[in-house]
Amino acid sequence: MLTAEQNDFMTRVGPDVPAGKLLRRYWQPVALAEELDGPRPLKAVKLLGQDMVLFRDDNGELGLLDRDCPHRGADLAFGRLEHGGIRCAFHGWLFNVKGQCMETPAEPASSKFHTTIQQGAYPVVERSGVIFAYLGEGEPPAFPDMDCFVAPGTHTFAFKGLWECNWLQALEVGIDPAHASYLHRFFEDEDTSASYGKQFRGASSDSEMAITKVLREYGRPTINVEPTNYGMRMTSLRELSEEFTHVRVTNLVFPQAIVIPMSSEMTISQWHVPVDDTHCYWYAIFTSFTEPVNKEQMRAQRLELYELPGYTSRKNKSNHYGFDANEQMTETYTGMGHDINVHDQWAVESQGPIQDRTREHLAASDKCIYTYRRMLVKAIEATLAGEGKAPMLLSDEEAREVTGPASIDGIGPRNQEKNYWVEADLKRRQESDWASQRLSA
Ligand code: FES
Ligand SMILES: [Fe+2]
Repeated sequence: MLTAEQNDFMTRVGPDVPAGKLLRRYWQPVALAEELDGPRPLKAVKLLGQDMVLFRDDNGELGLLDRDCPHRGADLAFGRLEHGGIRCAFHGWLFNVKGQCMETPAEPASSKFHTTIQQGAYPVVERSGVIFAYLGEGEPPAFPDMDCFVAPGTHTFAFKGLWECNWLQALEVGIDPAHASYLHRFFEDEDTSASYGKQFRGASSDSEMAITKVLREYGRPTINVEPTNYGMRMTSLRELSEEFTHVRVTNLVFPQAIVIPMSSEMTISQWHVPVDDTHCYWYAIFTSFTEPVNKEQMRAQRLELYELPGYTSRKNKSNHYGFDANEQMTETYTGMGHDINVHDQWAVESQGPIQDRTREHLAASDKCIYTYRRMLVKAIEATLAGEGKAPMLLSDEEAREVTGPASIDGIGPRNQEKNYWVEADLKRRQESDWASQRLSA
């Protein structure tokens, strides 16, 4: 249980509040690259409570500017993309991707006034189909060589979805290894051959046993959590027999990414990103360690639930998440269908816009949650004290050493030769401890 002040300290994300200051020290996903496809690559975005406009200029360069025009405050999301920047539709002021004002066309031709005008602008980069922004001060940290960033483009697929709640409770479902045995329980095992692109559907690796059966029948996992230099590593063990233990390892990459084994060939790297205090997007990069990803199929699967342009869920509070009492008695634990994204969405949204943690009762199986909260509070306090220290604020050199999930035993995708991804590294990985995560689904 927390006090209301402690809860605010960890959850609120504006520029002047504790957690908001910490999260601004890291790159944050701000859009999928696909959102800028089409003839007008411009999109209004909101991140950490800030309204901004994301665009590509004539040269394809990415820009992220504050959304209100510095002249009279009109909305730059309605701007014209032309002449190397974005031009406000009110009086034609033109801004480049760095936020410099290039023209104020209503001023006298000799005016140099525009040289004094600077719009708020933020660095943006694209990685594996996700556009990341840095809203903090000074130099951003380097990107780690995590598998999702160094895999070839053919082997990754990115998507996102909106959840109407605070980012921390969204993250806390991802670091809660106990819930999968209940929230995601199916009473019958499906045909595992139709499991491609879905979580908790295939067979557990090195085994014929469907993961749904493992979760259903072994509901009391032994959960271990180890703080690491990148965040923390969570292991849940389900002892199936004297001979076999099912191992599931999830990594938290500080501050708000989790790396989850999805199936015997893919992992998910997932960020829980605050839009504002009471909304968040999950952004996921799915990384295949075997065949190239079937992006069309994976996108179509997700578009069954999520609607563009907001990536909002068709199943939500207004339609009771599709709840069906009969299904709950006969097929699924929740009665909310077979898509586990809906289950997670219901679990976190029904806690309220910001979970009231003054009324919660954390149990022994919640140890990952309180371990994470301690880590978060420590990093926020260090930030407020003006100290540099917090996990994953990496220099270029340090970033090359963080090659998760393989970083656990130092075996990373170093070999850049053709096809390494499919052959050499896979073999090495299978011999490593890391394999137990990938294989255990
Ligand atoms: S308000 Fe934007 S140019 Fe005047
Ligand atoms: Fe879940």
